Amino acid sequence: MSADPHKHSEKLTPAGPDGHFYFGCLSEMRKDPMGFFTAVALDYGGIARIRFGRGNYSYLVSDPELIRELLIDNASKYTKNVRYDLLRKVLGEGLLLSEGDVWKRQRKIVRPAFHPKEVFSQVTESAEVVARFLDRFDALVESNEVVDVEPILSQLAQLLAGSWIMGEPFRRRADRIAGIYQDATEAWPEAPRSALAAYLPPSLPKALALRRCFKDFNAQIYEIIEDFRRGPKEECGLMSLLTEGHYEQTSKQLSDDELRDQLVTLFLAAHETSGSSLCWTHYLLSLHPKVRDAMQSEVADVLGGELPTSAELMTLPYLEQVINESLRLYSPIHSLSRVAAEENTIGGYTIPKGATVIVSLYATHRLPQYWENPDVFDPERFSEENVAKRPNSAFIPFATGHRSCIGGMLASLQSKMVVSQIAQRYDLNLLPGHPVDLKPSTTARPRYGLKMTVKKASVLRRGAEDERRLANS
Ligand code: HEM
Repeated sequence: MSADPHKHSEKLTPAGPDGHFYFGCLSEMRKDPMGFFTAVALDYGGIARIRFGRGNYSYLVSDPELIRELLIDNASKYTKNVRYDLLRKVLGEGLLLSEGDVWKRQRKIVRPAFHPKEVFSQVTESAEVVARFLDRFDALVESNEVVDVEPILSQLAQLLAGSWIMGEPFRRRADRIAGIYQDATEAWPEAPRSALAAYLPPSLPKALALRRCFKDFNAQIYEIIEDFRRGPKEECGLMSLLTEGHYEQTSKQLSDDELRDQLVTLFLAAHETSGSSLCWTHYLLSLHPKVRDAMQSEVADVLGGELPTSAELMTLPYLEQVINESLRLYSPIHSLSRVAAEENTIGGYTIPKGATVIVSLYATHRLPQYWENPDVFDPERFSEENVAKRPNSAFIPFATGHRSCIGGMLASLQSKMVVSQIAQRYDLNLLPGHPVDLKPSTTARPRYGLKMTVKKASVLRRGAEDERRLANS
């Protein structure tokens, strides 16, 4: 790793690793992006310049104050980095990847759906959807069978997102869509894990399987749109809001293709991230039974075995701390990047026009100056008192600035709704010896799934024992 910051004709360039003479740091980054960015942040501080090949440099911004500069103060000087070709093929021109006036218009159209009043009004119906879905765990308690909960929690996240965005027409096709999605996940190309791997041709059977999945998935979405066009509109989630909003803004009808892009973008943005977060939260809880006990007790006191209301979900502080600590350690979006549309400075260092600037949420969430023993799971970090000691941008699972997550509040409420309902009914316990590793794809997922057993929640077993003791005394 190389020298101190240096000056080129009055322009300051941050220090950073140069790596291999030809590939730069490409191999190290591909092998373990999260570990690599964490090491660079530790070695070089808040901003570093990393060489990824001959004359090819990117910048890693890790310090919370500099992240603020990048994503808030200098936001107009950057565009999103949309070199994710495969993702663009799936999402098209939706809110996540659009830019400029198109983005502004799309964000304005969907904003009302994310108003707290709207979000709270979903809770009763969604809580019932979750409760019915979780009934399937009862059979697993009986059989003591080991299951991979990753696809199950992903399917639950899909059901919540799909019901909210596309309503009844989605629910009718939820199982079929979950099946296609699972096949697509298996066929989705792995991020190359070395510099050379990027040059290998993709596996043909996987490429064909993925193409089939795209076709089947699109067919389902177009059928959903057809159901909506035929009505009744009030049971079709956000589809009326999207089509009417588009007409108000442009005086043009939203075509089926444009509506598809909006629906698929919202669906993916919502469930990919929430599914990942549910997996990591339950993984961490299974490793920390004392935390799980404390959280289950809080949930039992507030909910008393009933389905949660929106007001109750706002009064579960320890549950919120647990979810935040899980988002810190395993941010579903582990990194994001921007491209400089013009030359600018961050922390006094020059960022040239066209340069890629990366924020590794994984690395920033582990900076030892803000997080003591950063790899340790400790929900106390999110007590009111401890939160007040840190700059806001030290914890950014939903990013920050004008392109930050529009669904942050919805995501928090839905996570609390699912985790509190599971907490009231079940303990999910990781199978001893099951390997757990991060797979950095579009979102951070457990590479080998999460093999778990499902038991009756210890809070219920404790309650039953207390009653027995009382009866015998
Ligand atoms: C735990 C759950 C979630 C996490 C961690 C998360 C995280 C993020 C992050 C980090 C971004 C910024 C990406 C970037 O700047 O490159 C983002 C954007 C976005 N998220 Fe989320 N998200 C979550 C749930 C949701 C939900 C439930 C929705 C609802 C539809 C949603 C919709 C979006 C959209 C539409 C954008 C793009 C916003 C824009 O560019 O204007 N997300 N999310």
